[in-house]
Amino acid sequence: MLHTVQKNREAYLPLLLLADPSEEMVRRYLPEGELYSWLTSEGETVGVLHLTSTEATVCEIRNIAVRDQYQGQGHGRSLLESILKLLRERGVEKVIVRTGNSSIGSLAFYQKFGFRIMEIDHDYFNREYQTPIFENGIRCQDQLLLARSL
Ligand SMILES: CC(C)(COP(=O)(O)OP(=O)(O)OC[C@H]1O[C@@H](n2cnc3c(N)ncnc32)[C@H](O)[C@@H]1OP(=O)(O)O)[C@@H](O)C(=O)NCCC(=O)NCCS
Repeated sequence: MLHTVQKNREAYLPLLLLADPSEEMVRRYLPEGELYSWLTSEGETVGVLHLTSTEATVCEIRNIAVRDQYQGQGHGRSLLESILKLLRERGVEKVIVRTGNSSIGSLAFYQKFGFRIMEIDHDYFNREYQTPIFENGIRCQDQLLLARSL
């Protein structure tokens, strides 16, 4: 079940850090936009999604994460589908996400929902992050922007 987080956004930091290795970056965007959590039928928080509006009809998913032990069970799908439905009802026409070249799981996940790679910001992570990031044995250097229409 989708839940709008109204207060105490800091409590979601551990979950948000699963999708973004930089606490500094997460803290920078956390006060902005909207934060949603995903609850099981028992009321347990298992996922989180941070959203910002870049233009009236364009939204950006800044962060989506599902707790480790709940991954691979359809929660990410349900969370993302609920958000896409909500945005469509609001009149949003396009959703964008940004991720790193080494985030193979995220790239697979988003493409399964129809997101297409639109732009590559070469060396973004070398410029913006103090320490090198490695995922899946790959140096994360370039930022990919993916988008899909609603
Ligand atoms: C990415 C993430 C949110 C997906 O949530 P999830 O609950 O594990 O995903 P689901 O079980 O709902 O899977 C939905 C679909 O995505 C696919 N998928 C999810 N993770 C995948 C991966 N690592 N590699 C390949 N496919 C993947 C599933 O196979 C499934 O496809 P299918 O319906 O065709 O079988 C979750 O794995 C996560 O929190 N990862 C760490 C944080 C992160 O990387 N966030 C994204 C960057 S902002």
